[in-house]
Amino acid sequence: MSEQTQESQDPTVEQGQEPKGSVSRRAVIGWAGAGVALGAAAVGTVAAATRSSDEEAEAALKAVPDIEFYGEHQAGIATPVQDRLHFAAFDVSTTSRDALIRVLKEWTKAAAVMTGGREVGTGATGLAEAPPDDTGEALGLPASRLTLTIGFGPTLFEKDGKDRFGLKAKRPEGLIDLPPFPHDNLDPARSGGDLCVQACADDPQVAVHAIRNLARIGMGVVTVRWSQLGFGKTSSTTPEAQTPRNLMGFKDGTHNVSGKDTPTLDEHIWAAPGDGPEWMTGGSYLVARRIRMHIETWDRTPLSEQEDIFGRTKREGAPFGKQKEHDAPDLAAMPKDAHVRLAHPDSNSGAKLLRRGFSFTDGSDGLGRLEAGLFFLAYQRDTRKAFVPVQRKLAATDALNEYIQHVGSAHFACPPGVRKPGEWWGQSLFG
Ligand code: HEM
Repeated sequence: MSEQTQESQDPTVEQGQEPKGSVSRRAVIGWAGAGVALGAAAVGTVAAATRSSDEEAEAALKAVPDIEFYGEHQAGIATPVQDRLHFAAFDVSTTSRDALIRVLKEWTKAAAVMTGGREVGTGATGLAEAPPDDTGEALGLPASRLTLTIGFGPTLFEKDGKDRFGLKAKRPEGLIDLPPFPHDNLDPARSGGDLCVQACADDPQVAVHAIRNLARIGMGVVTVRWSQLGFGKTSSTTPEAQTPRNLMGFKDGTHNVSGKDTPTLDEHIWAAPGDGPEWMTGGSYLVARRIRMHIETWDRTPLSEQEDIFGRTKREGAPFGKQKEHDAPDLAAMPKDAHVRLAHPDSNSGAKLLRRGFSFTDGSDGLGRLEAGLFFLAYQRDTRKAFVPVQRKLAATDALNEYIQHVGSAHFACPPGVRKPGEWWGQSLFG
């Protein structure tokens, strides 16, 4: 997915203009700056200093391009991973297909606006007599590389034997109910969902603002089933950049699918024509797993044992028997139950996943332990050939199992991208 500025994404916008009733949040900085400068006009040097710092701030914000919302594939998958996550799974509370479609259309408009750093609808300070269309906490903040990625869960198509929205026949065969795996301890309140939205941004306030505004728009039609905040990306789609570390202190994402590797993305991540229903072509299947880490036990484990568990060194991230992080791994040099040896494509008939997870700490668990771990997110062309066999292998023998537990799980079909203004999330499915 290419990164470019998106000054004109909204259907109501002419090239280079702000959309009608949709104000750039950055402009607020400009106005605030202008106000300060006018007020301080009598004190010329102060005004000049304020103006120049405003200009510097504005220039710094413009230096980070927004991520294009429209395209063949949804942004937020192959896109370089941002620093923060707010992920929400929704349940649809209406039986009305029309109401659901209306929300999806409104969501799409709002998503295009917010990923461009603009205010939703008539903005945060529109009409004095009405609740504002935009909740306002992102005023003054740039888009922060916000991406919003939607997915449809199995229960949207069929729940308790009911074809809820006339979609049953369109459920992809690949959108399976995930099988149980050994050691799973799944909390139903943190699993499943009819819909999901993954919001990624470099600023947590921007990601939270986006989910909150979508939830507000969907009121009466969808409800948040569960949500997860994440920080410190634990995977990278940019192998040329420094690899981030997970909460166990290891580099995570070294051997991940690169967002620029089009042949691998086409072969392993994007659904292709003939794979399943036509509406999913160009989309991808997302598995979300909330994986709790037993941090305290891990912290009492000797370094050599920690390294044996992954089959990589801690500081450099080099595979066993090699010197550098990106050296090709020699799987035979790793213990048989090492995580990397078991998860590597060579041990799984070539299966590849695009990992895009984040760390989380949600306070403590009441027993004096951190409620922390990895919110694992992985995209793939066919979950039955990627996540399921890899996780089967890991759940059976991974040395890491002593230190982790899967406590939440969900599976979603993420449709292809919205190609142009006027189209909407799910159009190919409902159309
Ligand atoms: C808390 C749980 C997990 C932790 C801490 C963890 C950590 C790591 C680390 C440190 C690496 C090595 C660096 C890299 O190449 O990214 C790695 C590799 C990998 N992990 Fe995990 N992982 C976890 C769960 C999972 C799960 C659930 C799956 C899939 C079912 C998975 C699939 C992979 C794959 C495919 C690789 C790359 C192997 C290779 O090609 O060399 N991981 N993981």
